Amino acid sequence: MVLKCMVVGPDRNVTGQLLEMFRELGGINVVRQLDHYPHEHELLRVLRSLAPPILFLDLSNPGRCFEIIATVQAEFPGLQIACFHREIEPQLLLKLMQHGIREYMSSPFDPDVLAEVMIRLRDAAIKNPVISPRSNLVYSFLPSKPGSGTTTIAVNASIAISRQPETNVLLADMDLNSGLIRFLLKLNNEYTILDAVRHSTDMDETLWPQLVCGKGQLEVLITGKITTGVRLEPSNVRSLIDYARKNYKAIMVDLSGNMEKYALEVMQESRKIFLVVTPEIPSLHLAREKVAFLKDQGLQDKVAYILNRHGKSDLLQLEQIRNLLEGDIYFTFCNDYRGVGQSVAEGKEVSRNSELGRQFNLFANNLLDREAPGGMAKKSSKKDLRGIGDFLKFGVSRLAPASHSETKT
Ligand SMILES: Nc1ncnc2c1ncn2[C@@H]1O[C@H](COP(=O)(O)OP(=O)(O)O)[C@@H](O)[C@H]1O
Ligand SMILES: [Mg+2]
Repeated sequence: MVLKCMVVGPDRNVTGQLLEMFRELGGINVVRQLDHYPHEHELLRVLRSLAPPILFLDLSNPGRCFEIIATVQAEFPGLQIACFHREIEPQLLLKLMQHGIREYMSSPFDPDVLAEVMIRLRDAAIKNPVISPRSNLVYSFLPSKPGSGTTTIAVNASIAISRQPETNVLLADMDLNSGLIRFLLKLNNEYTILDAVRHSTDMDETLWPQLVCGKGQLEVLITGKITTGVRLEPSNVRSLIDYARKNYKAIMVDLSGNMEKYALEVMQESRKIFLVVTPEIPSLHLAREKVAFLKDQGLQDKVAYILNRHGKSDLLQLEQIRNLLEGDIYFTFCNDYRGVGQSVAEGKEVSRNSELGRQFNLFANNLLDREAPGGMAKKSSKKDLRGIGDFLKFGVSRLAPASHSETKT
């Protein structure tokens, strides 16, 4: 088992020493290293999307450090924090203890001490999994080219998720000029996504129900009439998503593919960005261009391809499509012109008994199972725990007896 952690270390020298020590010890995967103290939204974004169970925090600016500690403890109870610093400062040590931080190291780091710290952190992380009260299941849907089937997939996957017990879903139509969800689901509402974004900073439980419409556990923020040149303030979009995280299990956002500023903000907040392609050269070409753009924005790690309308008679074989995309395909949906057409005519989902309907169901389950809220909340099974033995190749003798039986191979 590899232990995932995040490192915030503005003091490059001491952080470099710590990372070097991690490399020496092995078994530690630094999923993100920041050389600055992040703002609250940046910190939460990283923690939600990468879900590390451990945070290493450089104490060089104690004021900022304690702000970060407060945010992490409020938003991610259970996330283990270890602080490191150039030198030992007794007063800081005391303050850390008062904040419940028990792990503190100063340079030069001793591999034996660090191994002990890692073992204690790992044990604590297993005992108190990270549970965030907010959902991290935010998914963006983006067409490579208009007409790829993005909205169809976002709508059907949302309905399939909403059918799961105790799983409410928000579907936000953020294709402001060609928003179709209202029509596809025969919904109507006086208010639209624009109202929701505008009021996002003063949102409350009386205003929210007026903004959404829908059926059962699916609630939708629809678009209104075509409004050109609308600007949505990215920070308001972020507030909207933040409100939704507190109130829904999954948040699905249908985007136009025009890469508006607000769309990039949504993508930043997303766990995954589904880029929908069809098995045709122009669609694949545009997908590559979009990925290149997203790469420049630092978003490439979140991008997952969906191949839609795939059929046996396609000119391009799956392997060729993968090669053209230079990446794996996360999910494939079959071509079902009649089935989709019928569902649109009825204002409903694609029949659950059709092949496409079953695929939507499977896809929806994937979104929930693979990225369940608070990844670490999943209890480690005995099988998972066995792998920890690898990690214990250092410092086995210091292992706390309580966890010993579980780590035997
Ligand atoms: N799997 C599919 N099989 C057949 N037709 C589909 C499929 N997915 C989408 N379509 C059709 O493709 C067209 C474009 O779909 P839409 O969801 O509006 O795409 P986008 O949001 O990418 O612009 C629609 O007419 C829709 O009915
Ligand atoms: Mg669309």
